[in-house]
This record gives sequence, structure tokens and C-alpha cells, in this order.
Amino acid sequence: MASLTIRKLDDAIRDALRLRAARSGRSVEDEVRVILREAAEGSPSAVSATALRTLPGLAAPSSRRDVGLARVTLIIGGGIAAYKALDLIRRLKERQIDVRCVLTKAAQHFVTPLAASALSHERCYTDLFDPGSEFDAGHIRLARNGDLIVVAPATADLMAKMAHGTADDLASAILLAAGVPILLAPAMNPLMWNNAATKRNVATLQRDGIVMIGPNAGEMAEAGEAGMGRMAEPLEIAQAAERLLRPPRPEPLAGKRMLITAGPTHEPIDPVRYIANRSSGKQGFAIAAAAHAAGADVTLISGPVELGDPAGVRTIHVESARDMLRHVEATLPVDIAIFAAAVADWRVAHEGEQKLKKTATGMPPLQLVENPDILATISHRKEGRPPLVIGFAAETEHLIDNARTKLARKGCDWIVANDVSPSTGVMGGDRNTVHLLIRHGGNIDVDSWPVMTKEEVATELIAHVAKAVVTEALGQPS
Ligand code: C5P
Repeated sequence: MASLTIRKLDDAIRDALRLRAARSGRSVEDEVRVILREAAEGSPSAVSATALRTLPGLAAPSSRRDVGLARVTLIIGGGIAAYKALDLIRRLKERQIDVRCVLTKAAQHFVTPLAASALSHERCYTDLFDPGSEFDAGHIRLARNGDLIVVAPATADLMAKMAHGTADDLASAILLAAGVPILLAPAMNPLMWNNAATKRNVATLQRDGIVMIGPNAGEMAEAGEAGMGRMAEPLEIAQAAERLLRPPRPEPLAGKRMLITAGPTHEPIDPVRYIANRSSGKQGFAIAAAAHAAGADVTLISGPVELGDPAGVRTIHVESARDMLRHVEATLPVDIAIFAAAVADWRVAHEGEQKLKKTATGMPPLQLVENPDILATISHRKEGRPPLVIGFAAETEHLIDNARTKLARKGCDWIVANDVSPSTGVMGGDRNTVHLLIRHGGNIDVDSWPVMTKEEVATELIAHVAKAVVTEALGQPS
């Protein structure tokens, strides 16, 4: 077996390795092992310096949390409840939380580093002066990397050290250097928990922003003793950790019903031909996804598009403007309606039952009739008009002026105006530049936004809707 001396690698590779190791919270040696294993398994994590710099973990380290990954440093203190920390590792891992364990000296009387490593699938740390991890200030790395430090069981002694800032072993040094939130699961005899010194320490730690789960009341390990001091159950601790790592997102539109139209419509000419437009549906779909993320109960009514249905959104697929109107009316009442569809203005008056044929006299005449205007129909309803109706104005010239006129003519409350001249690439593209026109009695406010992705436009629009819902307390649908 060949051996590798990291010191002899060239500077660029060594720097990239150190950076990658620091970001993934591993020692440099462990990181090399991971890279070699991935390379042997044929994973794309190649070993050139360039490749190292362009690895996803290097390019976007902060995105781990965005995709739901999280890492906990679990400090296991020396108490009889330490055996429950092994179950806690499992509970955290089943929540897609990576766990890296640190055992105090006392903890090792109750559980072994081997058991903690086996369950966490990571190396376990025990010594402040371990040359293997300390050559690159391992305790600082353990204290700073990851997303949360959990101490379970948090003994009276560990808590006293924390309260007084003592750092004479690896666990207390990590806690003193911590750059991430700390969750303690205290566990001790009720006499220790009720001792004035412990009470002072608990108060100090709480003032310092340390979060605690438990202790619970119950039987102690000591025969015949009961009271406050039992460590919270592993499931409770894991749930508390998850709440800190993934706090529930605010849902300002919870309880609100929303209707959104999107995409083009197809107006049949005969069984094989139709009138259509270039709308991709991306903007309407993005709005539906953003509304769902804000907690709304969303119905999306879409013309023919090549997009997957947004998760969690009731999606109804339609073809023509008349289908769309029928489903829109069937979806009422709603609190908020956003009409982002590019509905065809006209349809063929008499749809051919058979495929139209070329004739000797030339083109068959196509007589067009106007489609129902869905936005105007809903905006002008006497009964069941949604309290907030938002339309879109896709224009190729005189954008704001045309949008103002449209706001009045259609009778909606807000208009999102966007320039769809071919040079903008908006139709079918991924970006959009919009102006939000809001009617306030007789006045119209124009809010111009910078160029954004369609997802960003959707998020911004939904944020405005949420603000309006909160400040204007939109009524319930009638
Ligand atoms: O008149 P124009 O098509 O420019 O109006 C655009 C707005 O009106 C969009 O919100 C669109 O969804 C809506 N609209 C509609 N039904 C139509 C035409 C447009 O709902 N037949």
C-alpha cells in the first residue's frame, strides 16, 4: 500500500485540500481518504487542484442547509444517560443530520468511542491534544464547523465549566470556542439539579443564549431516587435540534385560497391545428410555487406547457380560453386570484370537425371571434369577486401607459407589467423585468423592479401579496 505525505503536495493542492477539509469539517487526512474513496468508486470528485476548487462543496458551502443537509457536533458527557446518546445519534441521522461525536473522558466510562463512530459513520474525537487532529487546530474546527453543537448528557460539571469559561479538555474547549448555536440536554441527580450552584450556572447559560431541552422529571438510575434531572428522551432532543437547524418557515398566506392561471391557451382550428402563442408558463408556475411556499392553498389552472406540476399545488390542465374560464369559475371563491396566463384573444368561429383541406380556390377562410376575457370577467363579478385580483400586462411598447389603461379596463386591483419585445427574451426565457402597478382609489402607484429570474419575481410578488393580506386584512371569500 502506498502512503502519502500531505506536506509534500504542491501548495495549490494543499490549500484547496485544507479549505475543502475545513468546509466539510474533516481533518485533512480524512478529506484525502474521502477523495480517494470517491475516485476509486468512480465519483466525479477528481483530484486535480482545479477540480478541487470547482467541487460543489467548495463552490457553494452555504448551500448544504439549503438542500436540507445539516451537521451536528454531539458532545457526550459522562453520566449514566450517556448510553441514550447512542440512540440520539440514530435519531439525528434519520433526520438527514450528519453527526460527529466528541466524548469526554468521563463519558468513555459509559460508552465507547468505537460505538459512537460506528453509529455516526464518522471518526469520534476524545482528546484535546490529539496530534492527528490538532495539527490544524482541530478543536477550533470542531467548534466552528457544523451547524449546531448538542451536549447530551450535559452533566452538572460540563455546565459549570461552560458557565465559567473553563477549557481544560476537548469538550469544554469546543464549547468555549463555539461559533454555532448550542443545545444542552442536562442530566443529573435531582439534588445536583436543585443545588444553588447549578441553578446559578443554568441561569448564566440561559442568559448567554444557550438553549436547553429538559431535564424531565422521573426515576433516577440510583435505586429509589426520583425527581427532576432525567435527560430528555433522544427523540425529544433530536426534535429540538431539528427545530434549531430547520426553523419552520413563516407562512404568511396560511389559510388563504389562491387561484393562478398560467401558460398559453390553444384554440382549435380543426382536429390537428390550433392557434397558440409563445408563453412557456414559467412565470405563472413560479408564482404558484412561491404562493404554496408562503402557505397558501393554491389552485393552478394552466394551458398546455412543458413543465412539471409544482409540488403541493392543485394543478388543472386546460386547452382553450373557454376551458380555462370554466375551471376558474368552478374554483371560486378564493381570496387572491392572479391571472398570469397568456390567453388567446381570439378563437376560430367554427372549428372544423375534419382536417381542413387545401382547395383550388386557395386558403380556407378563418373567421375569428373574441374569446372571453377571464380577468375582466372575474374582476367585474358582482358576487364572489376575489378581494385581490391581479392581472398581467405583456406589452411590446408604451409599457406603463398601456398597463395603466389595462388596469382600469379590466377592473383588477394590481397589474404586473412586463416588456415582451423579442429583444427582451422574456417569452419562454428565465428572466423578467416587471413593474407592479397598484391601484389606490383613484391613484396608481408604479413600483419598478430590477431584472430578476422568474422565481425571484414570483417571490417578490407573493411577498407584496402577503403584505397586503396582513396590512389590509383582506376579507374572507364571499
Ligand atoms: O388584454 P391582455 O391579453 O393584454 O391582458 C392580459 C391580462 O388579461 C393577463 O392577466 C391575462 O391573463 C388576462 N387575460 C384573460 N383572458 C383573456 C385575455 C387576457 O384573463 N382572454
